[in-house]
Amino acid sequence: MAHIIGSITTSHVPAIGGAIGRGLQQDPYWKPFFDGYPPVRRWLETARPDVVVVFYNDHGLNFFLDKMPTFAVGAAPEYRNADEGWGIPVLPPFPGEQDLSWHLIESLVGEDFDLTTCQEMLVDHALTLPMALLWPGTDAWPVKVVPVVINTVQYPLPSAARVYKLGEAIGRAIRSWDSDQRVVVVGTGGLSHQLDGERAGFINKDFDLKFMDSLIGDPTWATKYSIRDLVELTGTQGIELLMWLATRGALGDKVRQVHRNYHIPISNTAAGTMAIECR
Ligand SMILES: [Fe+2]
Repeated sequence: MAHIIGSITTSHVPAIGGAIGRGLQQDPYWKPFFDGYPPVRRWLETARPDVVVVFYNDHGLNFFLDKMPTFAVGAAPEYRNADEGWGIPVLPPFPGEQDLSWHLIESLVGEDFDLTTCQEMLVDHALTLPMALLWPGTDAWPVKVVPVVINTVQYPLPSAARVYKLGEAIGRAIRSWDSDQRVVVVGTGGLSHQLDGERAGFINKDFDLKFMDSLIGDPTWATKYSIRDLVELTGTQGIELLMWLATRGALGDKVRQVHRNYHIPISNTAAGTMAIECR
């Protein structure tokens, strides 16, 4: 059966793409953010994943407000990127792992999760930038990808508790996949930030640090909050922390932290990065 090695969770703000495109990794503004990744890459070199299951939210490249699934799973042979503006580089296509995609879909529907299944799918910066941070400068991705999209754009959103349960179900599905492949779960978004309205620029460092701590010692801690409470605590776009909860749900009980980085601000966002290993 397949093996979950661990997880990586990270912010995905579009400005990261511009910084990569202009080679600003050592620039004083960007260095504290990019310095969070070499330890994660070193861990990946020893972990040797074959597949990454990526939780993220689409920002309008594949889904738009007219049709917005709560949960969607990619089942395509490959996933292409496209020009989103903002100077974000368009990256090479990502190879899919269709056998795992269909196993996840069948397992999740079997557990009463209602999904949208995508046999064609564009992937936006929320998937491409974390991949570019984890495997910089590659022409051929060393891992296959299964995208899992959670709506954090069009209300109503799924609750934190529901998203955690989705992550748990995906963890069970990966572990029951008849394959000897090694899987890392990736979750992208957050941490606290608000881009619009009266609270534009809002960041909540206390909450973010408590949340990161909770993922090790008390992983369901944030599921006690409603979506409204989480928006209040983390900002309208900070709600992307739902991806971190889904990711953590997939890991099971026994984990250890490999690395974490937290830096304020990157483009109005509290930028968090965390790698966790299953024991
Ligand atoms: Fe986002």
